Amino acid sequence: MNRQLDPTTAMEKMTTYVRDNSTSVSAEVANEIAALIREKAGKGEMAVLGLATGSTPKGVYRELIRMHQEEGLSFKNVITFNLDEYFPIEPDHLQSYVRYMNEQLFEHVDIEPANVHVPDGTQDAKDVVKYCADYERKIAAAGGLDLQILGIGRTGHIGFNEPGSGEESITRMIWLDEITRQDASGDFQKLDNVPHRAITMGVGTIMKAQRVILMAYGVAKTSIVQKAIEGEVTSEVAASYLQNHENAVIYLDRAAAELLTRFDRPWLVDPTYAWDENRIIKATIWLARRLNKPLLKLTDKDYNKNHLQSLIAEHGPAYDINLRVFRQLQSTITGWPGGKPDKLKQPGDRKWPNDEVFPKRIVLFSPHPDDDVISMGGTQIRLSDQGHEVHAAYQTSGNIAVFDDDAMKFADFAYDFNRMFGIDNERSREIESHVEQYLHNKGVGESDSTEIRTIKGLIRRSEARAGCRYCGIPADRVHFLDLPFYETGRVDKKPIGEEDIEIILEFLKDIKPHQIYAAGDLADPHGTHRVCLDAVFEAVDRLKDEEWYQQCQFFMYRGAWHEWEPESIDMCVPLSPMDVERKRQAIFKHESQKDSAVFPGNDPREFWQRAEERNAETATLYNALGLPEYSAMEAFALYTGDKNYPTRISKSQL
Ligand code: F6R
Repeated sequence: MNRQLDPTTAMEKMTTYVRDNSTSVSAEVANEIAALIREKAGKGEMAVLGLATGSTPKGVYRELIRMHQEEGLSFKNVITFNLDEYFPIEPDHLQSYVRYMNEQLFEHVDIEPANVHVPDGTQDAKDVVKYCADYERKIAAAGGLDLQILGIGRTGHIGFNEPGSGEESITRMIWLDEITRQDASGDFQKLDNVPHRAITMGVGTIMKAQRVILMAYGVAKTSIVQKAIEGEVTSEVAASYLQNHENAVIYLDRAAAELLTRFDRPWLVDPTYAWDENRIIKATIWLARRLNKPLLKLTDKDYNKNHLQSLIAEHGPAYDINLRVFRQLQSTITGWPGGKPDKLKQPGDRKWPNDEVFPKRIVLFSPHPDDDVISMGGTQIRLSDQGHEVHAAYQTSGNIAVFDDDAMKFADFAYDFNRMFGIDNERSREIESHVEQYLHNKGVGESDSTEIRTIKGLIRRSEARAGCRYCGIPADRVHFLDLPFYETGRVDKKPIGEEDIEIILEFLKDIKPHQIYAAGDLADPHGTHRVCLDAVFEAVDRLKDEEWYQQCQFFMYRGAWHEWEPESIDMCVPLSPMDVERKRQAIFKHESQKDSAVFPGNDPREFWQRAEERNAETATLYNALGLPEYSAMEAFALYTGDKNYPTRISKSQL
């Protein structure tokens, strides 16, 4: 049921709002919740809220807490029902949703504890059916849900209504989908620790809410969001049932909205679509990929048959468009990422703004101590080989991604080392036994002591130095910024703070680089990569008037999980088979992340395998579009200076 008159949303079967970023969405949703609470308070009524957990609603809760503290928003007239809880789980477990809700919201506001309801994961399995029926009854007794907020899982679940859940389903026990368990495995340290079951409100329970707001952020959600909004209503995607709800809305950030027709193929739905260079590039590459043809073989008929009549009419014939896009893509390929020295320049070479500076001072930001080599190790080696002054800047300590065994091994090594060389042995013995005891008693998902975190951080530092040494970056150009937002000792991090930005700012002012590289990961709005990127965006924003910065090129490599789409690529560095081998060796220096990692994510491959396959895929794609055949390529997008639309392509869709 589309309630909008805007033709560009014609394919969307639910009211969908796309905002610049998750912060804007959080503010808007929190405002709506606050307005509801106040309106109900004004009438002497209770506001009944259905709440969700996970990374998505955290910003909303933060904003509600701010409103409580600064604007006197009271929760005295609020009753809450949470969607779900793992089963079995103790309420004080780090990953329990009871604990999550207390930490993220309840303990910071004046809600009556008796008005809070989160499904209880400590029930005896045989009592769960009755417990769930009671939960439903309690919701009904409170007068039903006034407003339900939701996130969406990659399986399309709302609550934990996994594929197969029916529209009438009620609160019940459910088996979690494998994908959902994998997504949770980071929080639980490993897949085996993730419960197989959960108690969840049903789709029917959610559908009975007066109003429903679903939020989704980041590229990991693009595909499922598109299915839920533009696809058929199906039990395979529980969120699609919201199409049948009279008063459900979706809020997305730009990254999550990317595959909606209005952004992915806007020419189909926007009658006033104005073709500019970037739009032409995007549409033409889309066509070539769809038809599996190299760019230069696309015909007028291909354009016409695939709804690109306006492009052909305004900029055709096909021959001209093809060549234009081909040349653009061709100009992205360079074996000289830092620019060519004058004496090697050739007439057709692409001109970059600070071409004349050679060698350059270059800063490579890396969120964790290995993202640089994983995502741009080949380019990193090449920049050093070509004589640039390369600085590696590790933004976080990466300490939580080290296995306990490794911490023990190194504490043991340090003790022996000190004993051998007669150094302060008493203290080192103390630390070694502290580590041994602490780790022996440590429960699943429990955080580490300061000493253990320090040891784990040191392990990653030594690996990063080894990786840099291998890439030709000397120790005095390896910088550990240890951004404070990361140091919670838990998977869950603090939001970005002024102190994080200051550290990046001072560092950049000190080096005054000619080129910056950073992980352009837009995937997870609250993840470490995204915070690290935001800190760099914020810092360079404050530097934009400095003369040196105006000459600086800021490239983004994509980060650990995705690669840039070819239309977004501004520079593509080809790697020979020998380069690929060298890059692999550089990644191998990060031993604590090899063989198996603490946080492998939902990809069974090792990091070096992911990197190699990804770089090979980019090369294959370029080749399929009709460009030369390389064995691997590392891709980069130039930062536009606009953090909400950081790439050329995203900006042209404005
Ligand atoms: C949480 C819940 C889930 C999450 C969904 C998205 O209470 O019911 O449906 O909303 O899995 O999780 P995040 O927000 O972590 O991506």
